[in-house]
Amino acid sequence: MADLKITNLHKNYGGVQAVRGIDLEVASGEFTVLVGPSGCGKSTLLRTIAGLETPDGGTLEIAGKIVNYVRPRDRDIAMVFQNYALYPYMNVFENIAFGLRARKTPQAEVETRVKRAADMLGITQLLDRLPRQLSGGQRQRVAIGRAIVRNARLFLFDEPLSNLDAQLRDEMRSEIKRLHQELGTTMIYVTHDQIEAMTLADRIVLLREGKIEQVGTPLDLYERPATRFVAGFLGSPQMNFIPAQLAQSAGGWAVKVSDGTSLALPRARDGLSDGRAIVLGLRPQHLTRANGSNRPGHLRLGVTVELVQPTGSRAYITFPLGGVPTVAELESHDVQRPGEQIDVDVDMNRAVLIDPETNRVI
Ligand SMILES: Nc1ncnc2c1ncn2[C@@H]1O[C@H](COP(=O)(O)OP(=O)(O)OP(=O)(O)O)[C@@H](O)[C@H]1O
Ligand SMILES: [Mg+2]
Repeated sequence: MADLKITNLHKNYGGVQAVRGIDLEVASGEFTVLVGPSGCGKSTLLRTIAGLETPDGGTLEIAGKIVNYVRPRDRDIAMVFQNYALYPYMNVFENIAFGLRARKTPQAEVETRVKRAADMLGITQLLDRLPRQLSGGQRQRVAIGRAIVRNARLFLFDEPLSNLDAQLRDEMRSEIKRLHQELGTTMIYVTHDQIEAMTLADRIVLLREGKIEQVGTPLDLYERPATRFVAGFLGSPQMNFIPAQLAQSAGGWAVKVSDGTSLALPRARDGLSDGRAIVLGLRPQHLTRANGSNRPGHLRLGVTVELVQPTGSRAYITFPLGGVPTVAELESHDVQRPGEQIDVDVDMNRAVLIDPETNRVI
């Protein structure tokens, strides 16, 4: 059974339509990530699920029961906010125990549950401290502890890691993933960080301007984006988009870019027509150093390197293709300096063709 079913949900703030007709089902035990640019309605959707906002249209069902007008505390939901919201004068133990106390849980059970949660999160030695005596990451753990002691049916997270530094973020990200594996609870997690979305999600819901742009597994969205927006949102560095034209010859189909370069397409697909204007999408990961091997669907392109950005193991180089600065991901020892001429391998099997009018993938 779906733990959560959302049907045609709308939420407005005065003239702002923050959520504009969302349909979504979340299965029991699933880790769903809501992702999208700032202002696309992620927090509004989450807050509406939690009951902190009342929908202006549509229905919200939790475990088969319509909860549109059910109070937040009666929804069997635990929520972790971006700013933790710990009680400053309560120690860690009492902060974690807060929801249990509010429900008049017997003391012995409070002790057992708080200790188990603290143990799981590695904060047992901090139970006597006050929030101000904790680091950001430790506070974050306390906030998560407060949510997990409750055994709620549904966990909601709103950008819980956004206040942490990069290293701590990575650490907490794996802990949240491990926690989900251990607890098996349904989780809905909001972020605008595509790496967090890719690594945590069973399923990603990509939102744009209050609507769902695409739903699927991280790999679905990465490998089969439905639109230019999805293709550009997931993946780092961003996919290259190069204006081009389709051309048919005896040899088959090719993509022609404005500098005259012609890139053969390995196979025909629906929607190809001679002379049709398209945008060619190529991920930096599919532009690599040519190594002499001749794999099907791969092309070799001689380019002049304009910019080199080393990242340690990899280097991102920029070169012009069809008038557009195009990024390729190479091994760092594959390229030394700007001005170098190198051969780039283009994996046309992975090329994405986009209709420039509709921005949909062909
Ligand atoms: N209380 C409010 N009153 C009026 N407008 C609001 C309110 N809360 C949100 N909005 C507007 O609703 C839209 C969606 O906001 P929301 O906070 O859901 O975005 P978000 O996807 O969470 O963005 P971010 O990634 O920046 O947190 C925005 O245009 C925002 O300005
Ligand atoms: Mg938000």
